[in-house]
Amino acid sequence: MELHGFGPTGRRIGVIGQGTWYIENGDRKAAVAALRRGIDLGMTHIDTAEMYGSGAAEKLVAEAIAGRRDEVFLVSKVLPEHASRSGTIAACEQSLARLQTDRLDCYLLHWRGRHPLADTIAALEQLQRDGKILSWGVSNFDVEDLEEAWEIAGKGRLACNQVLYHIHERAIEHAVIPWCENHDVAVVGYSPFGHGGFPGPHTGGGRVLGHIAAAHHATPRQIALRFLTRKPSLFTIPKASNVEHAEENAAAGDLHLSDSEIDQLERAFPLGRRTRHLPTL
Ligand SMILES: NC(=O)c1ccc[n+]([C@@H]2O[C@H](COP(=O)([O-])OP(=O)(O)OC[C@H]3O[C@@H](n4cnc5c(N)ncnc54)[C@H](OP(=O)(O)O)[C@@H]3O)[C@@H](O)[C@H]2O)c1
Repeated sequence: MELHGFGPTGRRIGVIGQGTWYIENGDRKAAVAALRRGIDLGMTHIDTAEMYGSGAAEKLVAEAIAGRRDEVFLVSKVLPEHASRSGTIAACEQSLARLQTDRLDCYLLHWRGRHPLADTIAALEQLQRDGKILSWGVSNFDVEDLEEAWEIAGKGRLACNQVLYHIHERAIEHAVIPWCENHDVAVVGYSPFGHGGFPGPHTGGGRVLGHIAAAHHATPRQIALRFLTRKPSLFTIPKASNVEHAEENAAAGDLHLSDSEIDQLERAFPLGRRTRHLPTL
C-alpha cells in the first residue's frame, strides 16, 4: 500500500482507506470482517461520523478496531448543528465513547452550518490540547471556506479537507486541490465509486477503465481508486461491506499508472465545471 503524508500531521497513511456510511445496514459480521481485513492490508484510515446510523456506524467500527487501535488512523466528524464551542466537545466525547477509544487521529466538521467557524475551531483546538484528538480538519469546504478556516486557525493547523471525488466528479481539481496542495492540507476524496454509480463496462469511460485494468491484471474499480490517489496530496475512502470488496480495494494501493494511462483516463472522464460541493445526503 502506497503511503502519503497526511497534510501537516507528520503521519504517513495508506492512500486507500475505508468509509463506513451505511455500513451498519447490512450483515454486521461481514462488515466487521471487511474492516479488519482492510486494516491487515494497509487500509488503516477509517472514516466514520456521528451522523452515520446516528452513532451505529461508530459502534460497529469500535468492534472492528478492538485490540488494534494503534494500527488505525481513526477519523470521525461532528454534525454542523452540534458544532458550537461546547457542542463540538460534547459530540467528540460521545464519539469517543461509541468508538471505545481515548482519542481520534483526526476530527472533522462534517460541513458548514449555522455555528460560527471560529467557535468550532476553538473547540477543535481545545480538543487537540486535551489530547482527545490528534489533529482536525474540515469536510465539504470550497476555497472560500478554506481561506476563512486558514485565517482563523493559522498555518499548519488544518489537516485535511474531505470532499466528493470520483472519476465522474472531478470538480475539486479546479481550485480545491490546488489550494490544499499550496497549504499542505490533505485531500480525502469521498464516494470514490460514486456512492454506487460506478461506470458500467459498456460505457465509453468504462471501456477505457477496462482496457487499462486488463493491462495491469486489475479491475476497473482498482484503476479508478489509483487514479483518484495519483498525486501526493490525495487519499480515498471507499466503503466496502465484505472481505472480497475490501481486498479488491486495498490491492489498488500497489498499482502504478503511467502518465499515458492517466492522460487516457482524464480524456475519458472530462473535468467538467467547477461547482460548489455539498454533502450528498
Ligand atoms: N464527508 C462527507 O460528507 C461524506 C459524504 C459521503 C461519503 N463519505 C465517506 O466516504 C465513504 C465512501 O463513500 P460512499 O459510502 O458514499 O460510497 P462509495 O465508497 O463510492 O461506494 C460504496 C459502494 O461501492 C460498493 N463497493 C465497494 N467496494 C467494491 C468493490 N470492490 N466491488 C464492487 N462494489 C464495491 C459498496 O458495496 P458493499 O457495501 O456491498 O461492499 C457500496 O455499495 C463513506 O462511507 C463515508 O465514510 C463522506
